[in-house]
Amino acid sequence: MLEKLYKKIFPILNFVPPELAHNLAIKFFSKYKKTIEKDDQILNSNVCNLQFSNPIGLAAGFDKNGEAYNGLLSLGFGFVEIGTVTLNPQIGNKKPRIFRLKEDKAIINRLGFNNVGAEKVLKNIKKNEVNSKRLLGINLGKNLDSIEPIEDYLKLIKIFDKKASYITLNISSPNTPDLRELEKKNNLEKFVKKVSLVKRKNSIKSPIFLKIDPDLNTKELGDIADIILSSSIDGIIISNTSINRSNNLINTNAGEVGGISGLPLKTKSNKLLKDFYILTNGKIPLIGVGGISNAKDAYERILNGASLVQLYTALVYHGPSIVNNIKKELVYFLKKDNYKCVEQAIGKLNKLK
Ligand SMILES: Cc1cc2nc3c(=O)[nH]c(=O)nc-3n(C[C@H](O)[C@H](O)[C@H](O)COP(=O)(O)O)c2cc1C
Repeated sequence: MLEKLYKKIFPILNFVPPELAHNLAIKFFSKYKKTIEKDDQILNSNVCNLQFSNPIGLAAGFDKNGEAYNGLLSLGFGFVEIGTVTLNPQIGNKKPRIFRLKEDKAIINRLGFNNVGAEKVLKNIKKNEVNSKRLLGINLGKNLDSIEPIEDYLKLIKIFDKKASYITLNISSPNTPDLRELEKKNNLEKFVKKVSLVKRKNSIKSPIFLKIDPDLNTKELGDIADIILSSSIDGIIISNTSINRSNNLINTNAGEVGGISGLPLKTKSNKLLKDFYILTNGKIPLIGVGGISNAKDAYERILNGASLVQLYTALVYHGPSIVNNIKKELVYFLKKDNYKCVEQAIGKLNKLK
């Protein structure tokens, strides 16, 4: 039913400016209700003491304000990550700021954390309450004009802890100047120490994930792995969008400033995840994201070390049926390879020490 409706609407959405199309989709999913079908048991897993019905999640940035996550969860996602939310509301960059690169199966965005701010998002979450069997991630960021960025994150953790299944600290968006500075060794050390202190002092119950960028070099990735291994960070999301462009892009929007997502990000995100899994000897749960558009991609990411995966761009190009299609085929792949559950497949392509 939904698929039929989407197939009718989809060609029209293609002619609507991307941000308007997105806002219409949010309106649609904020009203959309459907009973969630039970997942095949082989897809159930436990990550950071959270029970995931299946490992396919919606990545941050789609439901920035927590208005539509129940509708989106009912598409069959195991979890939806809302945000990025900042302490104070902010309007983001000048429009246009989302660009489709259809031939490249990619999107470039330079939104700049447009969102209604922590207070309003909290109200939205309270109003909508999460469908009990699925999980809600809340992705947090700093305001553009923040004088003490780390303090923003610490305050936001305390605000959202009670409502989140898990919290993501986004220090990797390319559209907030200097945000990626927080990934640098000395800054990251200071940052994670402060996060640990707040976790302890406030008995924070949500697992805390860090989202990193795909443009890190080998040395930077190694530094991050070392710091994370001796910290209380519970998981790493790999990765955000990339500021680099391949020469092979076809669409004329390729030169737009911002972060690129979708197919051109796939190999890079996959390699980064694999490298990080090996560097951390499989000790830290990883969430793989970037260019995943079918079950083969999702399975490959899991075999390379992802406990969970997320997608965004493929939902835009393929429509809501992508979630059930991926799950169905993933079940087939797991059974074919004689895995009893998805957890058994994590990292199986890597040799660890
Ligand atoms: C339009 C758009 C907005 C995004 N906004 C955010 C955001 O607010 N916070 C965040 O952590 N990631 C954001 N992302 C990045 C995605 O969460 C994801 O990491 C990235 O798109 C790679 O996945 P994909 O190739 O499946 O899209 C955004 C991506 C897109 C396309």
